[in-house]
Amino acid sequence: MLKDEILHLLERRRGEVVSGGELAKELGVSRTAVWKAIHTLEQSGAAIETLQGAGYRLAEHSDALSPTMLQESLSTRFVGRSLELLPEVDSTSNYLKRNASEPPNGHVAVADRQTGGRGRLGRSFVSPEGSVYLSVLLKPEGRGEGKSSFLGDLSPAETQFLTICAAVAVCRALKRAADMDCDIKWVNDVFWGGKKICGILTEASINAELQSLEYAVVGIGINMGEVPEEIAGIATSVWEATGRRGLRAAVTAALLEEFEKVCLDFVEGNKKEEILRAYEDRLFVQGREVLVTTAKEQYRAVVAGVDADAALLVKRDGADITRLVSGEITLL
Ligand code: BTN
Repeated sequence: MLKDEILHLLERRRGEVVSGGELAKELGVSRTAVWKAIHTLEQSGAAIETLQGAGYRLAEHSDALSPTMLQESLSTRFVGRSLELLPEVDSTSNYLKRNASEPPNGHVAVADRQTGGRGRLGRSFVSPEGSVYLSVLLKPEGRGEGKSSFLGDLSPAETQFLTICAAVAVCRALKRAADMDCDIKWVNDVFWGGKKICGILTEASINAELQSLEYAVVGIGINMGEVPEEIAGIATSVWEATGRRGLRAAVTAALLEEFEKVCLDFVEGNKKEEILRAYEDRLFVQGREVLVTTAKEQYRAVVAGVDADAALLVKRDGADITRLVSGEITLL
């Protein structure tokens, strides 16, 4: 699409002014077509500066994503090799689940905004324009000749470990792209400065007859800009943490790369323990008193760590260690 090509070109030459004539020549279209495409880009929120008589420039803080640019900047083998950018969608995870049969293993759907962003336990995930909302489609392919070993023959029971892989990947990506040191709140939240900056939702489709995994969708949302008022007390963003804008492309690329690395370490590299250690190192609830909420009860306990399957271990007063595989904890 012309507007993506223009964005790609301006992004490659970020900081430079490129004339309408040059854009038209380079892309083999008329100046009017360029002008119209720029207008559409501006309307969809891409910060493009028009310098009268000189041309166009992508503003320093522009957070517009170009799928071509994103793919070019990725050094992954699977994740994001096939990628699509949706200006608006109900939820990138719903979108992939609706269309799971076609795209290849590692396909990524990125959205500028979501109208029905979903979180764990049936909650919604507030998804205004300009943050990072993406879902990765993972299809086990078995092992053996001619088959990619990415994800191997991951079992349904192992899918929840993808949430752990994603949480570690988010922390590494935010360190790399924004120099942020984040914490993890079991099981699927990434925090910065005591507030939530990212949520992760892993869903799977299982063939009940064969007891095998058909596909998994790992959805990740990272707050990048202004935090909507309704969640300001509990959520933060990359911009609030660093004062920097324009990091959306860098965070997205770093996230996809780190996620692939951790998944490969898990599946190919047999490094589950190492990943768990990286997860536990960032678990800020470690040793703290929390309120545990499960489907059946609510109680106070102290967090003792996670076990080999990433279940949370909590110690209740006068009781043995309890293993928590679902439910939620709130710091007291
Ligand atoms: C949570 O906070 O409980 C998990 C939030 C997960 C949000 C991401 S954003 C991309 C993907 N699409 C969704 O609807 N949810 C996930």
